[in-house]
Amino acid sequence: MIQYMSAREAAEKWNISQRRVSILCSESRIPDVAMLGNMWIIPRNAEKPVDARMKRNIILEKKDARPFVKWAGGKGQLLEVLKANLPDGLGEKITKYAEPFVGGGALLFDLLNVYSFEEVYINDNNKELMNVFLVVKTNCNKLINELKTIQKEYEKLGMDEQQIYYYAKRDLFNNCELNSENMISKAALFIFLNKTCFNGLYRVNKSGKFNVPAGKYKNPLICDEDNLVSISKKVQNVIMRSCDYHDIETFADDKTLVYFDPPYRPLSVTSGFTSYTENQFNDNDQIKLAHLYKKLSDKGVKVLLSNSDPHNVNYEDDFFDELYKEFNIQRITAVRTINSKSEKRGNVTELLIKNY
Ligand SMILES: C[S@@+](CC[C@H](N)C(=O)[O-])C[C@H]1O[C@@H](n2cnc3c(N)ncnc32)[C@H](O)[C@@H]1O
Repeated sequence: MIQYMSAREAAEKWNISQRRVSILCSESRIPDVAMLGNMWIIPRNAEKPVDARMKRNIILEKKDARPFVKWAGGKGQLLEVLKANLPDGLGEKITKYAEPFVGGGALLFDLLNVYSFEEVYINDNNKELMNVFLVVKTNCNKLINELKTIQKEYEKLGMDEQQIYYYAKRDLFNNCELNSENMISKAALFIFLNKTCFNGLYRVNKSGKFNVPAGKYKNPLICDEDNLVSISKKVQNVIMRSCDYHDIETFADDKTLVYFDPPYRPLSVTSGFTSYTENQFNDNDQIKLAHLYKKLSDKGVKVLLSNSDPHNVNYEDDFFDELYKEFNIQRITAVRTINSKSEKRGNVTELLIKNY
Protein backbone atom coordinates (compact mmCIF):
# COMPACT_ATOMS: atom_id res chain seq x y z
CA MET A 1 0.00 0.00 0.00
CA ILE A 2 1.30 3.48 -0.89
CA GLN A 3 2.22 5.60 2.13
CA TYR A 4 1.43 9.29 1.65
CA MET A 5 2.64 12.58 3.09
CA SER A 6 0.95 15.97 3.03
CA ALA A 7 2.10 18.87 0.82
CA ARG A 8 3.42 20.55 3.96
CA GLU A 9 5.56 17.53 4.84
CA ALA A 10 6.86 17.29 1.26
CA ALA A 11 7.67 21.01 1.32
CA GLU A 12 9.70 20.58 4.49
CA LYS A 13 11.45 17.47 3.20
CA TRP A 14 12.43 19.07 -0.11
CA ASN A 15 13.10 22.54 1.26
CA ILE A 16 10.62 24.26 -1.06
CA SER A 17 7.35 26.07 -0.38
CA GLN A 18 4.02 24.33 0.05
CA ARG A 19 2.71 26.38 -2.85
CA ARG A 20 5.49 25.03 -5.09
CA VAL A 21 4.59 21.46 -4.07
CA SER A 22 0.96 22.09 -5.06
CA ILE A 23 2.05 23.51 -8.42
CA LEU A 24 4.26 20.46 -9.04
CA CYS A 25 1.32 18.17 -8.19
CA SER A 26 -1.09 19.99 -10.47
CA GLU A 27 1.47 19.90 -13.32
CA SER A 28 1.77 16.09 -12.88
CA ARG A 29 5.47 16.49 -12.10
CA ILE A 30 5.28 14.02 -9.19
CA PRO A 31 4.11 10.46 -9.97
CA ASP A 32 1.14 8.90 -8.13
CA VAL A 33 -0.06 11.97 -6.25
CA ALA A 34 -3.72 11.98 -5.20
CA MET A 35 -6.31 14.38 -3.80
CA LEU A 36 -7.76 13.98 -0.35
CA GLY A 37 -10.65 16.43 -0.22
CA ASN A 38 -9.04 19.58 -1.63
CA MET A 39 -5.52 18.68 -0.48
CA TRP A 40 -2.74 17.04 -2.42
CA ILE A 41 -1.16 13.91 -0.92
CA ILE A 42 2.21 12.70 -2.15
CA PRO A 43 3.78 9.22 -1.97
CA ARG A 44 6.30 9.20 0.90
CA ASN A 45 8.99 7.74 -1.36
CA ALA A 46 8.50 10.32 -4.15
CA GLU A 47 11.68 12.07 -5.24
CA LYS A 48 11.96 15.84 -5.39
CA PRO A 49 11.35 16.77 -9.06
CA VAL A 50 14.24 18.52 -10.81
CA ASP A 51 13.39 22.20 -11.07
CA ALA A 52 12.42 22.83 -14.71
CA ARG A 53 14.26 26.15 -14.55
CA MET A 54 17.40 24.30 -13.47
CA LYS A 55 16.92 21.66 -16.17
CA ARG A 56 16.79 24.39 -18.78
CA ASN A 57 19.91 25.82 -17.26
CA ILE A 58 21.83 22.55 -17.56
CA ILE A 59 20.98 22.35 -21.26
CA LEU A 60 21.89 25.97 -21.90
CA GLU A 61 25.03 26.09 -19.78
CA LYS A 62 27.46 25.18 -22.58
CA LYS A 63 26.27 27.85 -25.01
CA ASP A 64 25.38 30.56 -22.58
CA ALA A 65 27.19 33.24 -20.67
CA ARG A 66 29.82 32.11 -18.19
CA PRO A 67 32.62 33.92 -16.34
CA PHE A 68 35.09 35.70 -18.62
CA VAL A 69 37.87 35.44 -16.01
CA LYS A 70 39.26 32.78 -13.76
CA TRP A 71 38.78 34.19 -10.25
CA ALA A 72 39.98 33.13 -6.80
CA GLY A 73 36.98 31.93 -4.82
CA GLY A 74 35.02 31.43 -8.05
CA LYS A 75 31.82 29.53 -7.43
CA GLY A 76 31.81 27.36 -10.58
CA GLN A 77 32.25 24.14 -8.59
CA LEU A 78 29.51 24.97 -6.13
CA LEU A 79 26.88 26.07 -8.63
CA GLU A 80 24.62 23.07 -8.25
CA VAL A 81 24.48 23.33 -4.47
CA LEU A 82 24.00 27.11 -4.64
CA LYS A 83 21.13 26.67 -7.08
CA ALA A 84 19.53 24.09 -4.82
CA ASN A 85 19.59 26.71 -2.07
CA LEU A 86 17.98 29.60 -3.91
CA PRO A 87 14.75 30.94 -2.45
CA ASP A 88 11.41 30.00 -3.87
CA GLY A 89 9.74 32.49 -6.19
CA LEU A 90 12.91 33.59 -7.97
CA GLY A 91 11.94 35.44 -11.15
CA GLU A 92 8.33 35.59 -9.87
CA LYS A 93 7.96 37.36 -6.50
CA ILE A 94 11.69 37.97 -6.35
CA THR A 95 12.32 40.22 -9.31
CA LYS A 96 15.67 41.78 -8.36
CA TYR A 97 19.08 40.14 -7.97
CA ALA A 98 22.31 41.54 -6.52
CA GLU A 99 25.92 40.42 -6.03
CA PRO A 100 27.90 42.99 -4.04
CA PHE A 101 31.14 40.89 -4.25
CA VAL A 102 30.68 39.72 -7.83
CA GLY A 103 34.25 38.57 -8.67
CA GLY A 104 34.03 36.29 -11.72
CA GLY A 105 30.25 36.16 -11.32
CA ALA A 106 29.74 32.39 -11.65
CA LEU A 107 26.29 32.44 -10.05
CA LEU A 108 25.37 35.75 -11.69
CA PHE A 109 25.85 34.38 -15.22
CA ASP A 110 24.13 31.15 -14.38
CA LEU A 111 21.07 33.06 -13.21
CA LEU A 112 21.13 35.52 -16.11
CA ASN A 113 20.98 32.52 -18.46
CA VAL A 114 17.69 31.44 -16.94
CA TYR A 115 15.81 34.30 -15.34
CA SER A 116 14.86 37.69 -16.63
CA PHE A 117 15.00 39.85 -13.55
CA GLU A 118 13.54 43.34 -13.56
CA GLU A 119 16.73 44.72 -12.04
CA VAL A 120 20.20 43.32 -11.47
CA TYR A 121 23.01 44.97 -9.52
CA ILE A 122 26.66 43.91 -9.39
CA ASN A 123 29.59 45.40 -7.54
CA ASP A 124 33.19 44.64 -6.72
CA ASN A 125 35.71 46.99 -5.18
CA ASN A 126 38.28 45.82 -7.72
CA LYS A 127 38.08 48.75 -10.17
CA GLU A 128 39.96 47.01 -12.96
CA LEU A 129 37.63 44.00 -12.83
CA MET A 130 34.50 46.15 -12.87
CA ASN A 131 35.96 48.11 -15.77
CA VAL A 132 35.99 44.86 -17.77
CA PHE A 133 32.32 44.22 -16.94
CA LEU A 134 31.52 47.76 -18.05
CA VAL A 135 33.48 47.50 -21.30
CA VAL A 136 31.85 44.14 -22.12
CA LYS A 137 28.51 45.88 -21.63
CA THR A 138 29.24 49.06 -23.57
CA ASN A 139 32.07 48.38 -26.03
CA CYS A 140 32.12 44.65 -26.61
CA ASN A 141 33.12 44.74 -30.30
CA LYS A 142 36.10 47.03 -29.75
CA LEU A 143 37.21 44.84 -26.85
CA ILE A 144 36.97 41.72 -29.04
CA ASN A 145 39.08 43.40 -31.73
CA GLU A 146 41.81 44.32 -29.23
CA LEU A 147 41.79 40.80 -27.82
CA LYS A 148 42.02 39.26 -31.31
CA THR A 149 45.09 41.36 -32.02
CA ILE A 150 46.71 40.27 -28.76
CA GLN A 151 45.78 36.64 -29.44
CA LYS A 152 47.42 36.76 -32.91
CA GLU A 153 50.59 38.41 -31.60
CA TYR A 154 50.87 35.93 -28.73
CA GLU A 155 50.28 32.83 -30.85
CA LYS A 156 53.13 33.69 -33.22
CA LEU A 157 55.66 33.58 -30.38
CA GLY A 158 57.67 30.72 -28.92
CA MET A 159 57.34 29.86 -25.21
CA ASP A 160 60.21 32.12 -24.05
CA GLU A 161 59.07 35.05 -26.15
CA GLN A 162 55.55 34.61 -24.81
CA GLN A 163 56.92 35.16 -21.31
CA ILE A 164 58.68 38.36 -22.40
CA TYR A 165 55.45 39.50 -24.10
CA TYR A 166 53.50 38.77 -20.90
CA TYR A 167 55.79 40.93 -18.74
CA ALA A 168 55.70 43.77 -21.29
CA LYS A 169 51.88 43.72 -21.20
CA ARG A 170 51.95 43.53 -17.40
CA ASP A 171 54.14 46.67 -17.28
CA LEU A 172 51.81 48.43 -19.69
CA PHE A 173 48.83 47.51 -17.51
CA ASN A 174 50.57 48.74 -14.35
CA ASN A 175 51.91 51.93 -15.84
CA CYS A 176 48.66 53.44 -17.01
CA GLU A 177 46.01 54.57 -14.56
CA LEU A 178 42.51 53.57 -15.59
CA ASN A 179 40.65 56.48 -17.22
CA SER A 180 37.90 57.09 -19.76
CA GLU A 181 40.42 57.11 -22.64
CA ASN A 182 42.07 53.77 -21.96
CA MET A 183 39.24 51.71 -20.49
CA ILE A 184 38.97 49.39 -23.51
CA SER A 185 42.69 48.70 -23.79
CA LYS A 186 42.93 48.20 -20.03
CA ALA A 187 40.05 45.73 -20.14
CA ALA A 188 41.80 43.82 -22.95
CA LEU A 189 45.04 43.76 -20.96
CA PHE A 190 43.18 42.58 -17.86
CA ILE A 191 41.67 39.63 -19.76
CA PHE A 192 45.00 38.80 -21.41
CA LEU A 193 46.82 38.80 -18.07
CA ASN A 194 44.09 36.72 -16.43
CA LYS A 195 44.26 34.10 -19.20
CA THR A 196 48.05 33.83 -19.25
CA CYS A 197 49.23 34.54 -15.70
CA PHE A 198 50.02 31.92 -13.08
CA ASN A 199 46.77 30.20 -12.03
CA GLY A 200 44.58 33.10 -13.16
CA LEU A 201 45.34 34.91 -9.91
CA TYR A 202 44.73 38.60 -9.32
CA ARG A 203 47.21 39.84 -6.76
CA VAL A 204 48.67 43.29 -6.26
CA ASN A 205 51.64 44.53 -4.25
CA LYS A 206 51.57 47.28 -1.60
CA SER A 207 51.55 49.99 -4.28
CA GLY A 208 48.59 48.37 -5.99
CA LYS A 209 50.61 46.98 -8.92
CA PHE A 210 49.56 43.64 -10.40
CA ASN A 211 52.46 41.28 -9.63
CA VAL A 212 51.43 37.75 -10.65
CA PRO A 213 54.12 35.96 -12.71
CA ALA A 214 53.51 34.47 -16.14
CA GLY A 215 51.86 31.06 -16.28
CA LYS A 216 52.61 28.25 -18.72
CA TYR A 217 49.74 27.37 -21.02
CA LYS A 218 49.84 25.72 -24.44
CA ASN A 219 47.02 27.50 -26.22
CA PRO A 220 45.21 29.88 -23.90
CA LEU A 221 41.94 31.18 -25.33
CA ILE A 222 42.52 34.91 -24.97
CA CYS A 223 39.58 36.05 -27.06
CA ASP A 224 36.48 33.98 -26.28
CA GLU A 225 34.32 35.94 -28.69
CA ASP A 226 31.11 33.91 -28.37
CA ASN A 227 31.10 34.16 -24.62
CA LEU A 228 31.84 37.89 -24.58
CA VAL A 229 29.02 38.55 -27.05
CA SER A 230 26.66 36.41 -25.03
CA ILE A 231 27.59 38.19 -21.79
CA SER A 232 27.27 41.59 -23.41
CA LYS A 233 23.68 40.84 -24.44
CA LYS A 234 22.79 39.65 -20.98
CA VAL A 235 24.24 42.55 -19.00
CA GLN A 236 22.71 45.42 -20.94
CA ASN A 237 20.41 46.34 -18.06
CA VAL A 238 22.72 45.39 -15.23
CA ILE A 239 23.67 48.18 -12.82
CA MET A 240 27.46 48.08 -12.32
CA ARG A 241 29.35 49.69 -9.46
CA SER A 242 32.83 49.58 -8.05
CA CYS A 243 32.74 50.56 -4.41
CA ASP A 244 32.34 49.08 -0.97
CA TYR A 245 29.66 46.37 -0.61
CA HIS A 246 27.61 48.56 1.79
CA ASP A 247 26.34 50.37 -1.31
CA ILE A 248 23.90 47.45 -1.74
CA GLU A 249 21.60 49.10 0.80
CA THR A 250 20.55 51.61 -1.86
CA PHE A 251 19.34 48.81 -4.15
CA ALA A 252 17.97 45.95 -2.07
CA ASP A 253 14.31 45.74 -1.05
CA ASP A 254 11.85 42.99 -0.21
CA LYS A 255 11.78 41.85 -3.86
CA THR A 256 15.53 41.27 -3.94
CA LEU A 257 17.81 38.27 -3.56
CA VAL A 258 21.29 39.35 -2.44
CA TYR A 259 24.11 36.84 -2.74
CA PHE A 260 27.11 37.80 -0.60
CA ASP A 261 30.30 35.96 -1.54
CA PRO A 262 32.93 37.94 0.38
CA PRO A 263 36.61 37.06 0.60
CA TYR A 264 36.62 33.98 2.79
CA ARG A 265 37.87 34.14 6.36
CA PRO A 266 41.21 32.28 6.24
CA LEU A 267 41.12 28.85 7.88
CA SER A 268 44.58 29.35 9.29
CA VAL A 269 47.24 32.04 9.12
CA THR A 270 48.92 30.31 6.19
CA SER A 271 45.94 29.18 4.16
CA GLY A 272 44.35 32.52 3.45
CA PHE A 273 44.13 34.14 0.09
CA THR A 274 42.15 37.25 0.89
CA SER A 275 44.19 39.83 -0.93
CA TYR A 276 42.22 40.45 -4.13
CA THR A 277 43.07 44.14 -3.98
CA GLU A 278 45.34 46.09 -1.68
CA ASN A 279 42.87 45.85 1.21
CA GLN A 280 42.51 42.80 3.38
CA PHE A 281 39.11 41.60 4.54
CA ASN A 282 39.62 40.84 8.21
CA ASP A 283 37.41 39.60 11.09
CA ASN A 284 36.17 43.10 11.73
CA ASP A 285 34.95 43.29 8.15
CA GLN A 286 33.23 39.91 8.56
CA ILE A 287 31.43 41.31 11.62
CA LYS A 288 30.38 44.47 9.75
CA LEU A 289 29.08 42.31 6.93
CA ALA A 290 27.03 40.25 9.39
CA HIS A 291 25.46 43.50 10.67
CA LEU A 292 24.51 44.47 7.15
CA TYR A 293 23.16 40.96 6.54
CA LYS A 294 20.85 41.36 9.53
CA LYS A 295 19.81 44.86 8.52
CA LEU A 296 18.84 43.70 5.03
CA SER A 297 17.09 40.68 6.45
CA ASP A 298 15.00 42.95 8.71
CA LYS A 299 13.98 44.88 5.56
CA GLY A 300 12.61 41.66 4.03
CA VAL A 301 15.50 41.13 1.60
CA LYS A 302 16.32 37.48 0.85
CA VAL A 303 19.99 36.98 1.66
CA LEU A 304 22.34 34.11 0.84
CA LEU A 305 25.97 34.17 1.99
CA SER A 306 28.97 31.88 1.50
CA ASN A 307 32.02 31.67 3.70
CA SER A 308 34.65 29.26 4.97
CA ASP A 309 33.85 26.91 7.83
CA PRO A 310 36.25 27.35 10.76
CA HIS A 311 35.26 23.87 12.01
CA ASN A 312 37.55 22.38 9.36
CA VAL A 313 40.55 23.33 11.47
CA ASN A 314 39.10 24.09 14.89
CA TYR A 315 35.84 22.59 16.04
CA GLU A 316 35.64 25.13 18.88
CA ASP A 317 35.78 28.11 16.54
CA ASP A 318 32.14 29.20 16.29
CA PHE A 319 32.87 32.62 14.77
CA PHE A 320 30.18 32.40 12.08
CA ASP A 321 27.81 30.16 14.07
CA GLU A 322 27.66 32.97 16.65
CA LEU A 323 27.51 35.84 14.15
CA TYR A 324 24.64 34.30 12.18
CA LYS A 325 22.95 32.32 14.95
CA GLU A 326 19.45 33.54 14.09
CA PHE A 327 19.74 32.36 10.47
CA ASN A 328 19.76 29.09 8.63
CA ILE A 329 23.39 27.85 8.56
CA GLN A 330 24.25 24.89 6.34
CA ARG A 331 27.55 23.09 6.00
CA ILE A 332 28.15 22.00 2.41
CA THR A 333 31.01 19.98 0.95
CA ALA A 334 33.52 21.58 -1.41
CA VAL A 335 36.87 20.58 -2.87
CA ARG A 336 39.46 23.16 -1.84
CA THR A 337 43.10 23.57 -0.96
CA ILE A 338 43.10 23.34 2.82
CA ASN A 339 46.59 24.34 3.70
CA SER A 340 49.17 26.10 1.58
CA LYS A 341 52.03 24.27 3.35
CA SER A 342 50.90 20.80 2.37
CA GLU A 343 49.21 21.98 -0.86
CA LYS A 344 46.67 19.30 -0.10
CA ARG A 345 43.39 19.32 -1.91
CA GLY A 346 40.53 17.60 -0.20
CA ASN A 347 36.93 17.85 0.84
CA VAL A 348 36.23 20.65 3.25
CA THR A 349 32.96 22.03 4.42
CA GLU A 350 31.90 25.57 3.63
CA LEU A 351 29.10 27.61 5.07
CA LEU A 352 25.96 28.64 3.29
CA ILE A 353 23.85 31.01 5.32
CA LYS A 354 20.26 31.82 4.33
CA ASN A 355 17.60 33.93 5.98
CA TYR A 356 14.81 31.89 4.35
C1 LIG B 1 35.11 35.32 -3.10
S1 LIG B 1 35.34 36.58 -4.29
C2 LIG B 1 33.86 36.45 -5.15
C3 LIG B 1 33.90 35.28 -6.08
C4 LIG B 1 32.71 35.23 -7.04
N1 LIG B 1 31.49 34.86 -6.39
C5 LIG B 1 32.96 34.29 -8.20
O1 LIG B 1 32.18 33.35 -8.47
O2 LIG B 1 33.99 34.48 -8.89
C6 LIG B 1 35.23 38.07 -3.37
C7 LIG B 1 35.27 39.38 -4.17
O3 LIG B 1 35.03 40.47 -3.25
C8 LIG B 1 35.75 41.61 -3.66
N2 LIG B 1 35.85 42.51 -2.47
C9 LIG B 1 36.73 42.44 -1.44
N3 LIG B 1 36.44 43.38 -0.52
C10 LIG B 1 35.35 44.07 -0.98
C11 LIG B 1 34.58 45.16 -0.48
N4 LIG B 1 34.86 45.75 0.69
N5 LIG B 1 33.52 45.60 -1.21
C12 LIG B 1 33.23 45.02 -2.40
N6 LIG B 1 33.94 44.00 -2.93
C13 LIG B 1 34.99 43.52 -2.24
C14 LIG B 1 37.05 41.05 -4.20
O4 LIG B 1 37.65 41.93 -5.13
C15 LIG B 1 36.62 39.71 -4.83
O5 LIG B 1 36.40 39.85 -6.21
